[in-house]
Amino acid sequence: MKFLLFSNPLVKPLLLAAALAPAALAADAKENWNTHCMACHGKDGKGQTKAGRMAGVKDQSDAAYQASLTDEKMLTSIKEGVKEGVKEGGKEKMKPFKDKLSDDEIKALIAQIRSFKK
Ligand code: HEC
Repeated sequence: MKFLLFSNPLVKPLLLAAALAPAALAADAKENWNTHCMACHGKDGKGQTKAGRMAGVKDQSDAAYQASLTDEKMLTSIKEGVKEGVKEGGKEKMKPFKDKLSDDEIKALIAQIRSFKK
C-alpha cells in the first residue's frame, strides 16, 4: 500500500507541494517586505536607505525599539499607517497597508521585523 501511494504519479506532486509549503510561506513575508517595506526600512530593518533616512525611520534591529512596540501596536500602525510625530503639518509618514496586505500577511511581516532584533 505504501509502495502504491508513493509510486502513484498523481500523489507525488501533492507530496511535493506539501513539503514545499512552509518554505513558500516564509518567502512570502520576505517578498512582501521587499516589495512594500524595504525601500524605507531597509533589507535588515535598520532604515539605512535613501528614503529611510529622509523619512526618519527608526532602527528596527534595536532591542529597545523592539521592546517599545507590541505586536498589536505594530499591526495597527501597519494597517492604518503612521501619522504621529509629524514635522510638516500632518503629512503621512507611512501609508496604510490594510488595502494591500491581509492581517495574516501583516502578522508575518511583524515576525519578520522581530527577526531583525540584534
Ligand atoms: C515611505 C516609507 C515607508 C514605507 C514604504 C514603510 N514604512 Fe514603516 N514607517 C515609516 C516611517 C517614517 C515610520 C515612523 C518612524 C519609525 O517608527 O520608524 C514607520 C514606522 C513603522 C513601524 C512602527 C510603528 C509604530 O507604531 O511605532 C512599523 C512596525 C513599520 N513602520 C512597519 C512597516 C512595514 C511592515 C512596512 C511594509 C508593509 C512599512 N513599514 C513600510 C516609513 C515607511
